[in-house]
Amino acid sequence: MKIEKICCIGAGYVGGPTMAVIAAKNPNIKVTVVDLNEERIAAWNDDDLNNLPIFEPGLDMVVKEVKNKNLFFSTDIEGAIDEAQMIFISVNTPTKTYGKGKGMAADLKYIELCARQIAAVSKQNKIVVEKSTLPVRTAEAIKTILNNTGSDVDFQILSNPEFLAEGTAIQDLFNPDRVLIGGDNSDEGMKAIDALVNIYSSWVPKEKILTTNVWSSELSKLTANAFLAQRISSINAISELCEVTGADVTEVSKAIGMDSRIGSKFLKASVGFGGSCFQKDILNLVYIARSYGLTEVANYWEQVILLNDHQKNRFVDLIVNTLFNTVSGKKVAFLGWAFKKDTNDTRESAAIYVADGLLDEEAMVVVYDPKVKESKILDDLNYLQTRSGSENDSLLSVKSDPYEACKNVHAIAILTEWDEFKTYDWQKLYDNMYKPAFVFDGRSILNKEQLEKIGFKYYAVGASNL
Ligand SMILES: NC(=O)c1ccc[n+]([C@@H]2O[C@H](COP(=O)([O-])OP(=O)(O)OC[C@H]3O[C@@H](n4cnc5c(N)ncnc54)[C@H](O)[C@@H]3O)[C@@H](O)[C@H]2O)c1
Repeated sequence: MKIEKICCIGAGYVGGPTMAVIAAKNPNIKVTVVDLNEERIAAWNDDDLNNLPIFEPGLDMVVKEVKNKNLFFSTDIEGAIDEAQMIFISVNTPTKTYGKGKGMAADLKYIELCARQIAAVSKQNKIVVEKSTLPVRTAEAIKTILNNTGSDVDFQILSNPEFLAEGTAIQDLFNPDRVLIGGDNSDEGMKAIDALVNIYSSWVPKEKILTTNVWSSELSKLTANAFLAQRISSINAISELCEVTGADVTEVSKAIGMDSRIGSKFLKASVGFGGSCFQKDILNLVYIARSYGLTEVANYWEQVILLNDHQKNRFVDLIVNTLFNTVSGKKVAFLGWAFKKDTNDTRESAAIYVADGLLDEEAMVVVYDPKVKESKILDDLNYLQTRSGSENDSLLSVKSDPYEACKNVHAIAILTEWDEFKTYDWQKLYDNMYKPAFVFDGRSILNKEQLEKIGFKYYAVGASNL
């Protein structure tokens, strides 16, 4: 099947950047990204590229190059499905918050809605590509919905999970470690795989495009995230041991990372991982393993999440204990709210949970983040439902200037590793704080000697405080 028009359902952190790059690399294909969220589509269509709904380094330039040439953003979902030969499903698949599998399984209601909409609208054969991260064997459910429409339209389902990392999405998309495509072994299945391989091969070397069966592809995505998160929890577990023994986790990371069997990436101790994917995908893996009766497998992976929760709680304890066992009425400035640098995404950010823990202790929190809006910060906190919106409002404030945020506070906590924090005038920050002035570096990005010379009491995760 010759692909001339692509539709992508879901204009989020994956759909937007992925389709922008596919459009840039395939100028002869018309790519339309659709979403139910009118505000999001309007932001993508805004002429001012500073208003894009997603912050990703380099994204604005790619969008500028192709928008309204062969890349379009629209709320006309049915129109875009109807005209496309290939449809990517890139909607959110959050953890279920109700019913069976609550708190563990992936909520597939958005996926099912897409499948039903595709089934209702399609008049010609289509290739449907799962771009969202889905539990193994979801393609079967999509296929059942699509193949029971009573029409003779043929649907081929492919799994093409996305491995981009937020903050480096454009770089990752331009130069992926691999592209994974899972499909059926039938003649029609192979043709569909070829059609998608063709799109990627306009910029990805053939040897980096892996084709597998659908189930291997679906499970590979969950497994990749589980392994990445496991490395973080592993080094974070060691960070606690370092703090009590006099070892330094950055030295340990360097020493083990030079072993080529281990490798040096993803070995930085921190206040804990966040983001929309790691926790949700591991919970999903645990749920799947349990549902097959694989208790040991489920317990093994669940520990990655438990350790991550422990790490966030431990950071709150470190702040409270160090500030003489009480933070009631004290002010703590947060530098950073996003779950990592170079993104405005705050989903599951450690900052949310650390703030919640400190507010429980009646501290006042003042937040500065270079890319996250005030309304988002308050929404994140309110979403936890620990206290009322007005209580949160009175205890947490947001400043658009870091020096303002850190004025008259007892401590500064680093929650995101934004590069700009390293270049601040730390002497000026110190001068405007209550003394003794504390820095709790949840990302280990600052220079201990330099801060101690100024007079700060400096604590980093995994550093010996003996
Ligand atoms: N964010 C990442 O870094 C990342 C990386 C790899 C994979 N993934 C996976 O990709 C998927 C999407 O993630 P995301 O971060 O882009 O989510 P997102 O929440 O940013 O975007 C999803 C979008 O889908 C839209 N949507 C939901 N249902 C719809 C429907 N029926 N019709 C039209 N639009 C609909 C929502 O309005 C939203 O804008 C998830 O399965 C996620 O696990 C995410």
